[in-house]
Amino acid sequence: MKMLIKTVALSSLLVATSLYAAEAAKIVDINAKVTDAARIAKEDLGAKKEVTEEALGLRKTDLYKETDDTAGNKTDYSRPAPGASTKFERAYVNAPPMIPHSVDGLLPITKGNNQCIGCHMPAEAKAMGLGATPIPPSHMTNYRPTTIMKDGEELKEGKVVGPKGDIGNVGDIKLVKPKKLDTLYPGRFNCSQCHAPQSKGDTVVGNTFKGDFKSDAEKSHSNLIDVMNEGVK
Ligand code: HEC
Ligand code: HEC
Repeated sequence: MKMLIKTVALSSLLVATSLYAAEAAKIVDINAKVTDAARIAKEDLGAKKEVTEEALGLRKTDLYKETDDTAGNKTDYSRPAPGASTKFERAYVNAPPMIPHSVDGLLPITKGNNQCIGCHMPAEAKAMGLGATPIPPSHMTNYRPTTIMKDGEELKEGKVVGPKGDIGNVGDIKLVKPKKLDTLYPGRFNCSQCHAPQSKGDTVVGNTFKGDFKSDAEKSHSNLIDVMNEGVK
């Protein structure tokens, strides 16, 4: 009976996914397929009596020869255009979200050409009405300690740095006063330094990592600015 309920739930989920695949508001779990229990059990070398050399590596072919059956994983970055894609669930709390749409013609980001901000800056994201997630407040904040030179000494957050100073080095500053800006912090300009597009393809091994979320909201949004100093004294 339990089995049957599971199957029914799964098939209705599949129908729902295909029906609303284009709906931007829906969030897809990209790890759903790779955490399949049967696959994990099959790949678990510890559960096997005998482990062949071929099974040891990720490539599952003869380790001593590069033959035709040894092929690298293909990458395929073709994805729907911005506005037509479906957002992915966050990998863990406050992970930088993956880019779910095509980045054709958008990369590389250069000093004079950053189209990402044209759609993702909060005002633009709202005005365009495409459903682009606004760049979060953490990206409009300068977390670097204020550094000045005074009487030949280096001061960070008002503290003298050096062997005879208040602090040894910048790492001794645990809490920095965040400086809110009304524009993008320059250190966040190169979006693709942290946000990556997704390649369509299977993983070489199943993924057993599951992020823990305190709430469902954290699966589709970040709140780093509110929890930045959690647990830090
Ligand atoms: C034409 C407007 C447009 C441009 C240009 C654009 N995006 Fe997007 N972006 C969107 C929309 C709309 C979505 C929501 C998903 C969808 O509907 O495709 C999105 C989704 C995203 C997400 C996922 C956010 C989440 O909540 O999961 C990230 C990350 C992202 N974009 C980053 C980028 C980066 C980086 C660039 C530049 C390389 C870029 N985008 C350029 C419109 C745009
Ligand atoms: C230094 C790394 C870094 C850079 C550069 C960066 N981001 Fe992020 N981004 C993050 C991280 C980490 C998060 C999740 C935590 C947070 O909100 O700060 C995030 C979150 C986001 C979100 C999700 C907001 C939400 O409400 O859930 C969007 C959209 C986004 N970034 C867009 C961009 C765009 C567009 C750029 C380029 C202008 C950019 N980011 C540059 C690391 C970065």
